[in-house]
Amino acid sequence: MTSAGIDPTRPSIARVYDYWLGGKDNFASDRELADKIVKRLPQIPEMARANRDWIIRAVSFAVENGVRQILDVGCGLPTSGPGLPNVHEVAQSIAPETRVLYVDNDPIVQAHGRALLATNSHTQLEEGDLRELDKTLASLTFFDMSQPVLLLLAAVLHFFPDAGEREPYQLVRSIVEQLPAGSYLAITHAEDTPETRAVTGDYTAATSQLRSQEEVAAFFAGLELVEPGVVRLHEWHPRDDSPFNDPVTVLGGLGRKP
Ligand SMILES: C[S@@+](CC[C@H](N)C(=O)[O-])C[C@H]1O[C@@H](n2cnc3c(N)ncnc32)[C@H](O)[C@@H]1O
Repeated sequence: MTSAGIDPTRPSIARVYDYWLGGKDNFASDRELADKIVKRLPQIPEMARANRDWIIRAVSFAVENGVRQILDVGCGLPTSGPGLPNVHEVAQSIAPETRVLYVDNDPIVQAHGRALLATNSHTQLEEGDLRELDKTLASLTFFDMSQPVLLLLAAVLHFFPDAGEREPYQLVRSIVEQLPAGSYLAITHAEDTPETRAVTGDYTAATSQLRSQEEVAAFFAGLELVEPGVVRLHEWHPRDDSPFNDPVTVLGGLGRKP
């Protein structure tokens, strides 16, 4: 264990995902697990890239529709692969004044993200836990909580089982209740299919839960879903020129608080 609380001998979700994206912030233990999963689900690196590309499209949509504050929880490592910029780079290329707060509970994200973000006063990174967000949201001074926020929960809710420590639907509802009208909720989530089911439990020692289209759509209760609703990522506002349009069994949706 390093002084920053990083244990290189135990794989972490953030570092395994970084490896699939072609990043360099991972250790042998992460690569070993990541390769083992690829053997059983060969399209998983493609799913990770499609996920990042969907985030770019959803962030662009929200910023083009006036949102200037983004809360990216379970943000992962600042992997900026070819054609896959980070959230703040996407948002601030459209509206430079957009404030982006990244939150993750893995100390590796804190250690590696700080340097990347040091030069940008509109972007911050904090160590924090999604399980506690409903209790800490009101104390966030980085945002003007009278103005809309895009809450981004990308590839994180599948680590929240229904029977876990925090019931995920109630958690998301209690966070969204605190956001002002006009805010957006963006979710990506691994879909429950026979292929994805084969690797559940491998990714991390943490429990995980795949969900169906209907189950992911239920996170948006009370929100107006942006068309075409909760669909597989390649079906949501695809860009003609994107190299990431191949079909993947990951679902995504964007909802607006009326
Ligand atoms: C698969 S990665 C996704 C990264 C990024 N959101 C994306 O979609 O590109 C999942 C991230 O969620 C983080 N995570 C898992 N459980 C969390 C929790 N309870 N609170 C905050 N972050 C969490 C992990 O550390 C990891 O960085």
